[in-house]
Order: sequence, then C-alpha cells, then structure tokens
Amino acid sequence: MSHPTTIQARRVYDPLLRLLHWAIALSIVALIVTSQLADWFEHGPYEKTLWNLHIVIGYTLTAGLLTRLLWGLVGPLSARWRDLWHPAVWKESLRTLRLPATHRAGHDPLASLAYLFAYGVMALMVVTGLGLAASEFQTGPLAGWLGDAAWLEDVLKEPHEFGFSLLLGFIGLHLAALVFHQWRGERVAQSMVTGKQYLGTESGVRHD
Ligand code: HEM
Repeated sequence: MSHPTTIQARRVYDPLLRLLHWAIALSIVALIVTSQLADWFEHGPYEKTLWNLHIVIGYTLTAGLLTRLLWGLVGPLSARWRDLWHPAVWKESLRTLRLPATHRAGHDPLASLAYLFAYGVMALMVVTGLGLAASEFQTGPLAGWLGDAAWLEDVLKEPHEFGFSLLLGFIGLHLAALVFHQWRGERVAQSMVTGKQYLGTESGVRHD
C-alpha cells in the first residue's frame, strides 16, 4: 500500500461550479432572511414588498438550479452528477458505521449524499414556491395556469415550510462538517473559493 508523501494543490472545481455554489448559497440565505422578515412584518406596510423580493430571489435560485442541473450533464468531471454518486461508499459507511477515509479529487463521497438530498429539497422549494407565487400572489411563470387556484395555497404551504426546515438542517450540517475539517487541519472550505484541493500524491480522480 502506498502512502501519500507530499500534499499537492490541484485545480478541481471549475469557475462556473463555484459561481453556481455561491449563487445558490446566497439565494438561499436571502430567501431565509426575506421569509422571516415578511413573517415578522405580517400585516404591516412592508409585508407585500418583502414577499415580492422573496419571489424574485426565488427566480435566481430557480435559474441557478437549472444551470447546475445542465452543468452536471455537460460540465467537467468534477461538476458531473456522476461525481456525486457513490452508492458503494454509502453502503459501506452504513454497514461499518464509520466515516470513509476519503482523499479523492472532487466531491467528498459521503457529503455528496447530503448534496443530492439538498438539491432534491431545493427542487421541492422551487416547485412549491412557484405554485405559491401563482396561487397566492397571481405572479410568476405559472400565474396564467394557476392564478385562480386559491385552494392550492393550502396544499403547497406545508411542504414549502417543511422543505425550509430540511434546508436549515442541511446548512447546519454542511457548515459543521466544514468547521470539523478545518479543525482537523484539512483545507476543505477554501476549495469552493479557489477551486483547489490539497491532496496526497497518491490520490487520483476516481469516480467510485
Ligand atoms: C447557505 C449556505 C450553503 C449552501 C446552501 C451550500 C450548498 C452546497 C452544495 C449544494 C454543495 C454541492 C456543490 C455542487 O453541486 O457541486 C456544496 C459544496 C461545498 N460547499 Fe457549500 N453551501 C453553503 C455554504 C458554504 C460555505 C459558507 C462554504 C465555505 C466557504 C462552503 C463550502 C463548500 C465546499 C468546499 C463544498 C465542496 C465540498 C466537497 O469537496 O465535497 N459552502 N455546498
């Protein structure tokens, strides 16, 4: 078995992937802030403006997610959906209840499961959000179709709020994992800024 002797910086995450990460992360933070402020100012003069802002930022998230979906199909290897798909590692971690020793270039295999889950929840938020914009505020791309469906508001509100809680959980876990790596001396967090990963010389780009 070979052991890594030196740590090398490698360019792994491309600029568009990083731009999308930050566009999506900032949209989510802004969506959280505007929804909480709108609730806070309920029945006040700013409530409608805040929901309008929330809806417009929701379009940014929608555009970011659609672009990420496409980039996962046509982008470089480390941006592909394949780079987030590691069922063998997930099964092994579940069987042994241990964190895998991962030093591969690209996404962390176990974290990838959380990313796929988060993307699924974001898709739910976009669909229910566009439905709410149409049925409650008669605006957005679905307004022509669902603008009169006032009943839809009650159907969509709960899954939208449930998705919100799941996303808060994901953000807490994601940030805690990044702090944990930093504490262990692993320079993971900077990789979504610089695109570089610091890996042992034995680590290649694997797609397991
Ligand atoms: C609202 C806050 C955030 C959200 C919703 C979020 C979401 C995500 C998602 C969905 C991915 C997968 C990216 C992909 O599709 O390739 C990811 C990866 C990543 N994020 Fe975040 N992120 C947030 C904040 C941050 C912050 C503050 C940092 C640290 C500077 C960070 C650093 C990273 C890194 C380094 C990865 C890749 C880790 C790996 O190699 O597996 N994120 N994040």
